[in-house]
Amino acid sequence: MASLNAIARKLVTRGQGILAADESEGTIAKRFALIGLPVTLESRRDYREMLFRSREAMSKYISGVILTEETLEQNARDGTPFRELLAETDVIPGIKVDRGAFPMPGSRDEKITEGLDGLRQRLKHYAGLGAGFAKWRGVIAITSYAPSRNGIRANAHVLARYAMYCQEAGIVPVVEPEVLADGEPGDHSIQRCEEVTAETLEAVFKELRLAGVDLSGMLLKPNMVLPGMRSRDRVGVEEVARRTVDTLRAYVPAAVPGIAFLSGGQSDEEATAHLSAMNQLGPLPWALTFSYGRALQTSALVTWDGKDENVAAAQRAFAHRARMNSLAALGEWRPELDLAA
Ligand code: 13P
Repeated sequence: MASLNAIARKLVTRGQGILAADESEGTIAKRFALIGLPVTLESRRDYREMLFRSREAMSKYISGVILTEETLEQNARDGTPFRELLAETDVIPGIKVDRGAFPMPGSRDEKITEGLDGLRQRLKHYAGLGAGFAKWRGVIAITSYAPSRNGIRANAHVLARYAMYCQEAGIVPVVEPEVLADGEPGDHSIQRCEEVTAETLEAVFKELRLAGVDLSGMLLKPNMVLPGMRSRDRVGVEEVARRTVDTLRAYVPAAVPGIAFLSGGQSDEEATAHLSAMNQLGPLPWALTFSYGRALQTSALVTWDGKDENVAAAQRAFAHRARMNSLAALGEWRPELDLAA
C-alpha cells in the first residue's frame, strides 16, 4: 500500500487536480435540472461515464475523482466497473464519506456534518474497493448570527475525527471546511469572508493536531476568500488571490502537501483565473490546485444535454475546462486561451 504522503502528493501532481463528482442524489438533481433531465440510476451512470471516459481530460489533467458510494461500486453501461475505467487513466478513486450537513442543535443558521457513526467499518470497505482518499465537507455559513465559535469548533472537531479514521484505514483525508459564498443571505464582504476563513482554518488545524492527524498525509480543500455572491463588493482577481494566499500562509502548516480548492459557485472562468493568479504568487509551501465540481463540469453537462449523440462534444468541453485548470495550477492560464476556444 502506498504511503499516505505518496498518495497525497500524487493527487497534487504538478498540472493536475481532482474532479469532484460526488454530488448526492439531491445535488445531482439540481444539476440535471439545468438540462431538464430526470434523475435515475441510469442517467447518473451515463453522465458520470461520459466524464470518466473522457480520455484526454482524465489521463492528462485529473489525478483523482471523488465518487459517491453508488459510483464507487457502479459499472459502466457495458459492464466495466468504473474503478477499472479510472485505473486505465491512472486516476485515483476517492470517496465522499460524510452523510451531509444538518441543522446544528442549539444554533441559528448553522449546520453540522454527520456521518461519523460506523465510519471505521465503512472506510475499511472503501479501502478494500481501492479508494485512495476520502472527502468530508464541513459547512460554515456567514449570516448575522453565524458562524458562532461553537459552530466552527464543532465542525473542526468532526473533521479531525474523520481525518484520523481515514488515516487509520490507509486513506488520505481531504479535509474540507467550506466557508460559503453562495449561502443566504450572501451579502457579506470579502473582509468578513477572510476573517471567518482565518478563524475556521485556525480551529481546524488545532483540532487536527489534537487528534494526532499526520499533516503530511492529508490534503486541505478550502474555499477561496471571496465576497458573498450577493455582495455589492466588486473585487478583482488579484485581490482574491492575495487575500486567499495570505490567509492560507498564516494558518496552513507547510507539512500539508497540497491544497485543492472547491469552486463554490464561481463561474468556470473565475475559478480558473483565481487559481492561476494564486499560483503566480509563488513560491508557496504547498501545491495549490483544484478539486472542482461545478467549475469543471457545467460546460460538459450543458453540452451533453442527456443525449448519447453529444457525448464526444461534451468530453471535448470537459477536456478543455480541465486543461484550463491544469494551466491555472501551473500559474500559466491566460484569458485569451479561453476566448480562443
Ligand atoms: P464545487 O466545486 O461545485 O463547489 O464542488 C466541490 C465540492 O466537492 C463541494 O463539496
